[in-house]
Amino acid sequence: MSKNAEALAQQIRGIAGPEPVAAGLILGSGLGHLADGIDGTAIAYSDLAGFPQPGVSGHNPKLVIGDLEGVRVAIFGGRAHYYESGRGDAMRLPLEVLRALGAGQLLVTNAAGSTRTDIAPGDLMLLSDHINFSGRNPLIGELTDARFVPMTEAYDPQMRAALRDAALAEDIALPEGVYAWYSGPSFETPAEIRAIRTLGADAVGMSTVPEVILARFLGLRVAAISTITNMAAGMSDENISHEHTKAMAPIGARKLEKILRRFLHNQH
Ligand code: HPA
Repeated sequence: MSKNAEALAQQIRGIAGPEPVAAGLILGSGLGHLADGIDGTAIAYSDLAGFPQPGVSGHNPKLVIGDLEGVRVAIFGGRAHYYESGRGDAMRLPLEVLRALGAGQLLVTNAAGSTRTDIAPGDLMLLSDHINFSGRNPLIGELTDARFVPMTEAYDPQMRAALRDAALAEDIALPEGVYAWYSGPSFETPAEIRAIRTLGADAVGMSTVPEVILARFLGLRVAAISTITNMAAGMSDENISHEHTKAMAPIGARKLEKILRRFLHNQH
């Protein structure tokens, strides 16, 4: 854990109170408003030295510490993407801070395109695994042996089962699938989507994978859910755009919020 992360955790405890955080939540494109719906203390990323300043519209760059369904959570209203800076480890400091605040688990959300005809825009997908199609790794440059992170069960089986139970109780479909990380910021070509699909991916997006690698490196248990905003390139006549992503994400976000609340509620 860096000294920086300890100092930031100290600063955050000074503002939001000393109780340890149990879980972290990273909100994806168009989902940032979820951070506004909880009873808690909001701190702008710009007040946290060294935090990335995400510049992507549809994100809400603040950290909210508060109570959600009786669980103390840290909600990251926005993320920094690899494509903003070329740095794969852009979310390392926020995740180190999350660990320093006491969290043992992390739930990552994102907006993604579907490569599967039975998973449609507006649906959710629980990640069972991922493919790092970008070839980048956020731990490049890390010098300790801890860099050799096992990724065999990166997406925690118990958290996944609890999320499936929560979805069932809410009567919301939550198919599981493999997410491929494409660096962005341009969208994929239809040929790339055919390649990704052939390789075994069910959804594609521009985030999550570096955060999951970093979170596993830091010893956090992780789960992730995609809100499907579009069929991937070449799979429908619909235009693919960031505007469309932002417009569609709230449909999945409403379902996601229900699952998330039930998941947290069931933790005690
Ligand atoms: N590709 C990559 N990222 C995305 C997509 C997509 O089709 N939709 C939302 N985020």
